[in-house]
Amino acid sequence: MNERVTVISHPLIQHKLSIMRDINTGSKDFRELLGEIAMLMTYEVTRDFQLEDIEIETPICKMTARMLTGKKVGIVPILRAGLGMVDGMMKIIPAAKVGHIGLYRDPATLKPVEYYCKLPSDITEREFIVVDPMLATGGSAIGAIQILKDKGAKNIRLMCLIAAPEGVEAVLEAHKDINIYIAHVDKMLNDHGYIVPGLGDAGDRIFGTK
Ligand code: PRP
Ligand code: URA
Repeated sequence: MNERVTVISHPLIQHKLSIMRDINTGSKDFRELLGEIAMLMTYEVTRDFQLEDIEIETPICKMTARMLTGKKVGIVPILRAGLGMVDGMMKIIPAAKVGHIGLYRDPATLKPVEYYCKLPSDITEREFIVVDPMLATGGSAIGAIQILKDKGAKNIRLMCLIAAPEGVEAVLEAHKDINIYIAHVDKMLNDHGYIVPGLGDAGDRIFGTK
């Protein structure tokens, strides 16, 4: 796998992902598991965040402690399905701001269509994590990252649950400065652009629509 791709194969994540994939898992469990996995993945996605020395005093003595350098984080879910990952991430990065990019995949062309965009105002200063459970053809992720770049974002990483190999390659090719974090790379895309074996339509499974 390319050095810009990190597959987070932690046993807890793989176990929870298998339950999500199961056709018999309902929306409530699906949503809870997605939130839990997003939280666990965030731990790995933020591994390179910088620390600095701070002087503090414990009840026992003074010490030099390690704290985050105050990096500003922006979480950007691709609507709708990316929304299911935000709460879990905010549990461990509570100071993050959340931008929203609305894209849906045209079922005939499989190309993303933009319908909404609202981002934090201090966009040039933030480290962005674009999130979407599914990276299929890659069109939606490539589009969302381009929207962020066009508005001035300098640091962007992509976090997805399941990817097709085609989608990973497409993102790496389209955005040569982007690192991708994935829980699992599946076998392939089918003729309708769905990931195989995948988990079906993530948005429909989160929100109970069809
Ligand atoms: C799904 C998914 C991704 C996109 C992936 O969204 O959540 O955003 O498809 O496919 P791609 O890599 O081929 O672009 P969808 O368009 O179904 O919208 P939804 O989240 O509103 O259901
Ligand atoms: N979008 C989904 O929700 N699932 C897929 O398998 C592909 C795109």
